[in-house]
Amino acid sequence: MTGPTDSASEPEPALFADDLISPTIAATLPPTYVLRPLRKSDYAIGFLDVLRVLTTVGDITEEEWNGRYDWMNTQGKGGYYIMVIEDQGKIVGTGALLVERKFIHHLGLVGHIEDIAVAKDQQGKKLGLKLIQALDFVAEKVGCYKCILDCSEANEGFYVKCGYKRAGLEMAHYY
Ligand code: ACO
Repeated sequence: MTGPTDSASEPEPALFADDLISPTIAATLPPTYVLRPLRKSDYAIGFLDVLRVLTTVGDITEEEWNGRYDWMNTQGKGGYYIMVIEDQGKIVGTGALLVERKFIHHLGLVGHIEDIAVAKDQQGKKLGLKLIQALDFVAEKVGCYKCILDCSEANEGFYVKCGYKRAGLEMAHYY
């Protein structure tokens, strides 16, 4: 039998399946910290504020947020793996893996690591490292043969600590 009580007790759906969260990495976080997939309700608990340590975000209304989340969860399904670290009802870190489906390398999948951000007062606690390791775990599990990312010179040392190495050169054309 289903009813309001039953549905109220069900966990809120997330952007991707919980089994893509590495239990080994999740277990290394401090006790009150939870590593999990993005949920729609993260709008209300500081997700966008964490991204503001990375770059400008703009004033995004809840309606706009919902529209983008729904797109990622439908047309974008299987391409967007956005992960968060929550501590006591507040988002303290986030990172994204975008999975690109190619023709080359026999329909190879390439992971793109994007938008890694840890709240200012939480930096230096290895949360960034754990986010990258957790995104690498997803990439490998969904079948990517490599992950790539762009970063500033100032962050190169962080990514080297995460096991990445310099490869190539980023170019950009802004519109
Ligand atoms: N340069 C060199 N080493 C670094 C840097 C850095 N900028 N930042 C961290 N490290 C080292 C740490 O000292 C640590 O080394 P250790 O293991 O020897 O102690 C190791 O890297 C892991 O550091 P964490 O504690 O996991 O780093 P943190 O949680 O602070 O996250 C991050 C690092 C994500 C860069 C954070 O400082 C941040 O949010 N910065 C602002 C946003 C940003 O620049 N994001 C990255 C954009 S690039 C992209 O998204 C693809």
